[in-house]
Amino acid sequence: ESYKEPYRPAFHYTPAVNWMNDPNGLIFADGFFQMFYQYNPVGTVAENQAWGHARGRDLLHWTELPVAIPAVRNAAGQYTDLIFSGSAVQDRQNSSGLGDGRRAPLVAVYANNYLADQTLPNGQHVVAGQQGVSIASSTDGGISWSNYAGNPVIAVPPAPYADQAGAFRDPKVFWYAPGHEWVMVAALSNIHRVILYASDNLKDWRFLSTFGPANAVFGAWECPDLFPLRPQGGGAEKWVLMVGINPGAEYAGSGTQYFVGEFDGKSFTADPDSVHATTPPAGAEIFQDFSSGQSYAALGWTGTGAFAGASPAAETIPGSVTGHVIDSFLTGDSAVGTLLSPAFTIDKPFIDFQIGGGSWPRDPATAGTASDKEATVNLLVDGRVVHSTTGNGLGAMSWRSWDVSGLRGRKAWIEVIDANDGAQGFGHIFVGDILFSDTPQLEANWLDHGPDFYATVTFNDLPESARTAVGWMNNWNYGQVIPTSPWRGQMAIPRSLSLRNTDGRLALVQNPVETLPLLHGALLERSVGNMALDAEHPTRTLDRISGRQLDISADFVPGGADTFGLHVRSGANGERTEIGYSPRTRTLFVDRTRSGDASFSSGFKGRFEAPLAPDRDGHVRIRVLVDTSSVEVFGGDGAAAITAQIFPSAGSVGVDAFAENGSAVLHAIDAWAMRDIH
Ligand code: FRU
Repeated sequence: ESYKEPYRPAFHYTPAVNWMNDPNGLIFADGFFQMFYQYNPVGTVAENQAWGHARGRDLLHWTELPVAIPAVRNAAGQYTDLIFSGSAVQDRQNSSGLGDGRRAPLVAVYANNYLADQTLPNGQHVVAGQQGVSIASSTDGGISWSNYAGNPVIAVPPAPYADQAGAFRDPKVFWYAPGHEWVMVAALSNIHRVILYASDNLKDWRFLSTFGPANAVFGAWECPDLFPLRPQGGGAEKWVLMVGINPGAEYAGSGTQYFVGEFDGKSFTADPDSVHATTPPAGAEIFQDFSSGQSYAALGWTGTGAFAGASPAAETIPGSVTGHVIDSFLTGDSAVGTLLSPAFTIDKPFIDFQIGGGSWPRDPATAGTASDKEATVNLLVDGRVVHSTTGNGLGAMSWRSWDVSGLRGRKAWIEVIDANDGAQGFGHIFVGDILFSDTPQLEANWLDHGPDFYATVTFNDLPESARTAVGWMNNWNYGQVIPTSPWRGQMAIPRSLSLRNTDGRLALVQNPVETLPLLHGALLERSVGNMALDAEHPTRTLDRISGRQLDISADFVPGGADTFGLHVRSGANGERTEIGYSPRTRTLFVDRTRSGDASFSSGFKGRFEAPLAPDRDGHVRIRVLVDTSSVEVFGGDGAAAITAQIFPSAGSVGVDAFAENGSAVLHAIDAWAMRDIH
């Protein structure tokens, strides 16, 4: 509890002791930012969930308070109802009647997770495994709470979703001013829908509509949020629906996707350019006409391994274009092999395809590792792999888009590799038609392209222009075995959200909250002025910038280098976290392969990428928040974000600039040491 333990973040929120996951009940009330969260009061794994509580005045410094809403126990002391994720509102008109006549009550709306069949004191009967919605109220600013006697206020979702009562959770409630009523969005996790309700009093809820399934749908949908946001630079107000998915995010674990659209008080409708196409776009040429059911041999493909002479069955996966299930197995599989296309000339700026599939159950020993690969699609030019995409585990069945505009006129090959070692379980591996087009197909809209930004929700009762999100900086893949003690789990720095028109499409943009400079300590560096990185100096140590807690803003000018960027937390034996940019593939990346301790989970190491175009002046600007056990990376003024935990040695404090295979210029760099919030 000294807050000085190895890996204890200095400026990210952690509870003093024990397990924490999702942020809950985020609200600005009585001059405080209130943050509740999923909390195990007696251990460092995800059990016994209650609502923990912290509050503060600047979104940076937090005071931890006693558990707000404890899990319910029976007379024998056994837990019978866990308090799962949800939200909080200030009931200004006392519509709920739960106020004390003096102060507007805070009302928490949370998910139950019943652990035992039971008849509640109010006569409602619930069964083990049932979820549902309950409320609690507080008239002392969120310190003490009383559960409403009529709980649960929604026991079971309406027909035809009543059979989903076991996966119905994470209600987010907000005041919908145009309709003068409360609106709730909650997850029907297993059928990849969100469900909307309305209420006058927070007790009686009226079913409105559902949205989904759409975009990433392998895994469970969790922790939705729905809010209005105005595009930067003006334009009509839009609505954003965010929803967590686990597993099935980009790296097979937890992640947050979003949709931009309209909400009319009843239904959310995503804009067409915010959801996948399910048919090829007009004008797209299809490289392999899988839909015709032709064999690979007829298409001129050659195969090795399991594919020598084989022609897997064409199949349509709902919500996708037609493709081939290149591997299908029931009880273990060793059908590894490679297919190679005939040579072709690149004559369109984008190559798009769908990739995905999954195997169940997953082998935890290999989840997320190289040996867990399902299918890889490579683009080869001059015998070199210039683009490579792998769908692994329960990887989202979604569009992958390669920008090949820089390769126009080049002779290329496409290779499809089935690397599934399928030690156990059953599954499908699918690669869709490969499209050549002028406009890229949409991948799911990922809020953050790193592995550690989940269950993200926003504050209630802030002005619309200050929409602020908090994410849990962890991943269910390995979250319960990260090497921290006596606590586990940390929150990302609150982020300001906005919408920006990028390539004709509205995209969510995020930046660290504006109050962050309050944590700036010493100014370590302000603009080194055009530092050349080239064959002679591929790596330069930035002597004045070092430490375990940093806020760095770097401005690079690409040269011919394949990649360039910064190493942070660098130290002995090549330990470092690489943060960089690849101009050829227009991707921002974080590589934590050599970042420090990864021994606790074979799925932890990895390299994570986010699409990012250079700024209009050709520069690439990268902001990095470094803390004891994390990096949060923002590219292009918040257009791309990658958040990753790292567990480096305490002595790894160096920062270098690097360029690989060619040159780049570090045009300017600012860096501050960050203060400890404890
Ligand atoms: C998301 C989640 C929620 C659930 C909570 C339980 O991380 O699985 O769906 O309410 O965690 O702690």
